[in-house]
Amino acid sequence: MSAAPVARDDRTGDPAEVLMRGADLHLNHYGAARLPFACVGGSGLELDMVDLGPEHRGRRLRLLDASGGYASAALGYDHPVVRAAVARGTGVGSVTDELGSLERAELLDRLFGPGGLWTDQFPTGQYHVSGRNSGSEGNELALRLVLESRFDARRLKHRPGKEKRDTILAFQGAWHGWTGGLVQLLNRRHYQAGLPAPETVAPYGVRIAHIPFGDPAALEETFTELADRLLAVVVEPIQGDAGIIEPPPGYLRGLSRMCTANDVLLVADEVLTFAKTGGWFAMRDADGPVPTDITVIGKYLGMGAVSTSMVIARRELTVRPSGAVSTSDLRPSTCAVIRDGIEHIEAEGLLRRSADVGRHLAKQLDTVLVGGHPDVFTEVRGTGFMLGVELTAAAAARIGTLRTALIEAGVYAEFMAGAGKRSGDRRYIHPTLRIVLPLNTDQALADEVVERVAAGARALK
Ligand SMILES: Cc1ncc(COP(=O)(O)O)c(C=O)c1O
Repeated sequence: MSAAPVARDDRTGDPAEVLMRGADLHLNHYGAARLPFACVGGSGLELDMVDLGPEHRGRRLRLLDASGGYASAALGYDHPVVRAAVARGTGVGSVTDELGSLERAELLDRLFGPGGLWTDQFPTGQYHVSGRNSGSEGNELALRLVLESRFDARRLKHRPGKEKRDTILAFQGAWHGWTGGLVQLLNRRHYQAGLPAPETVAPYGVRIAHIPFGDPAALEETFTELADRLLAVVVEPIQGDAGIIEPPPGYLRGLSRMCTANDVLLVADEVLTFAKTGGWFAMRDADGPVPTDITVIGKYLGMGAVSTSMVIARRELTVRPSGAVSTSDLRPSTCAVIRDGIEHIEAEGLLRRSADVGRHLAKQLDTVLVGGHPDVFTEVRGTGFMLGVELTAAAAARIGTLRTALIEAGVYAEFMAGAGKRSGDRRYIHPTLRIVLPLNTDQALADEVVERVAAGARALK
């Protein structure tokens, strides 16, 4: 970490002043907990930061970014392939899905056409695809497809067999996004303030049921009780915001089978897990892909350069004519970035490599953080480059101090909220440090991340 004072740069001037003004103008939903640091550049795993706090205002820091650019920078910062793809994308036209696009067609054909890269998960001819700006918007479209599956598009009459299916099953601790439709899927009371009760929008409204994630008995019970009322299940294959929680082996396949057997749609929210678990998708196990009706991917998909998501849905799931139009639907320039990024990841074997480095990283996190600092960390969870280290109650109470200590130790990391109190006698899940690294991170750099987190934890004493 370098911590030299900011030299006044004749070209741009001292950025601290404008950064302070910018921070003041930006809606602050963190209150006093907002970190007094700003990013002024980045390369690889490194972020160039400026300190905006009163003590060291203007100080420059160079940090390792253990957040992977909010889990979006699949190849790190300023990667030459992504830079070239963005430049290439400016020349491919800006057409919506009303017009075809060669760039879009080539991407879709490469992924979903005959012999395509993702056809083991989504067999050719069975799925169609749409694009959105963000994970939230992708999930909104998924929800729309689910809701419209209940009705015929022209007369809005219930489809036969769907009359009673007014319930969507979601999971305690889930995070799917901020937008109006999605907040109902979150079992967090304050996000639900002001939403219409299902009764007020009858007969089109749906109700949401929440059960604990990863508990096969709770799933069985719900299907026994509610199978003929269930319209869909929405699941993160590994829960992110709940604290990087993996289900037990066989859970996702069991869920998929129950959905198929009971004519219930299965929606996998892979916005976060996409490309982070050693394969493209987390909905798979030792027997191969776990079938879904809709899969939503995002974050890493945009290679840190564009904000985008993709909704991959069974062909029979659709919306009323022009009911899903969006300026951002597989925009050709976005497709260029996705395609070049994916080709690079494939050519370099980065998924397999990230799985290997991730295994090593998980062990290091366990030995160095949980073993070395049991007063701060309790448990490592996750797979590949989607890892979490849960805090102790004492450390959770000092999370602001810990975040600053990590930055002083040369690493920026994010914390997941944790599922908190869950039903039954399940244990409380505290906030959890999330480690997401770009897929091209090598073992030495991953070790350095762990060392810096440990140094931050030491400083907490
Ligand atoms: C599982 C999951 N779904 C959806 C979202 C929302 O994505 P976005 O922030 O791009 O709207 C997130 C964001 O963290 C997520 O983790």
